[in-house]
Amino acid sequence: MNASGPASDGWAAGDAYEAFMGRWSRVLARAFVAWLDPRPQSAWLDVGCGTGALTAAICEFAEPSSVVACDPATALLDSARHRLADPRVTWVSAGSGSLPAHPVGYDVVASCLALNFFPDPRRAVEEQLSLLRLGGRVAAAVWDYGDGMQLLRHFWDAAVRVEPRAAALHEGCRFPLCNAEGLESAFRAGGAHEVCIEAIEIPTVFEDFGDLWRPFLGGTGPAPAFVADLTRAQRDRLECELRNSLGGIAGGRIALTARAWAVTAGRGSLDR
Ligand SMILES: C[S@@+](CC[C@H](N)C(=O)[O-])C[C@H]1O[C@@H](n2cnc3c(N)ncnc32)[C@H](O)[C@@H]1O
Repeated sequence: MNASGPASDGWAAGDAYEAFMGRWSRVLARAFVAWLDPRPQSAWLDVGCGTGALTAAICEFAEPSSVVACDPATALLDSARHRLADPRVTWVSAGSGSLPAHPVGYDVVASCLALNFFPDPRRAVEEQLSLLRLGGRVAAAVWDYGDGMQLLRHFWDAAVRVEPRAAALHEGCRFPLCNAEGLESAFRAGGAHEVCIEAIEIPTVFEDFGDLWRPFLGGTGPAPAFVADLTRAQRDRLECELRNSLGGIAGGRIALTARAWAVTAGRGSLDR
């Protein structure tokens, strides 16, 4: 394990992340911010900001007074810095367990597609709650890896059929946190009150199979890092298995959906 999770998660390159997941996390982040319906002029902390999808959505739609965006993966943070130059944003190299504090507390501490990668999500919630000002909220969105995130579900199911050792890496099994029950219990165990959870579904539409498959070859993120570790023959078998599982579509558009679970909570009686 390194500071950003198992080395095999491979948070290695901003462009590869954008091609693989950023193109969808940016869509999700906009829906997540709209769902949070935040007060303008709030002070935000984005934990596990990666290439900056959530921070960009906050700047675009939430009229923040400030956003501190942090991540321990230097390559992704550098890429975020280059993608978004906004005077309200401060980029910080830090991870869960050593989050930057705000002099009077944040109004919102949020993470997008990151909570499940933190070493101890319950303690992460506890830490995030401790950084809030009175009346502040913690919030998170995570993919429904076990079911509604169809792209990754298809990928890992195909990977397990081709390579049994993928079973231990299948994100549907690795992240039991990522459903309504898992989030509710992690947030309550972390000391959160008024926990509100809802599903957010976005379309993930690919021009053709190549558009879906190529980003898996970029090496950044758990699934691409798994592919990078395969031999050429294993990779070809996986490509073929995944193509078949998607209905053997030869050249056509592939329309999938991705479901995330969004959660927001406060500190309850501490706020009264
Ligand atoms: C799937 S990416 C999400 C990035 C971005 N928030 C988005 O929505 O595109 C997961 C992120 O969590 C970060 N991460 C992993 N372990 C972390 C930790 N312990 N503390 C903070 N961030 C962490 C990774 O570096 C990576 O940027």
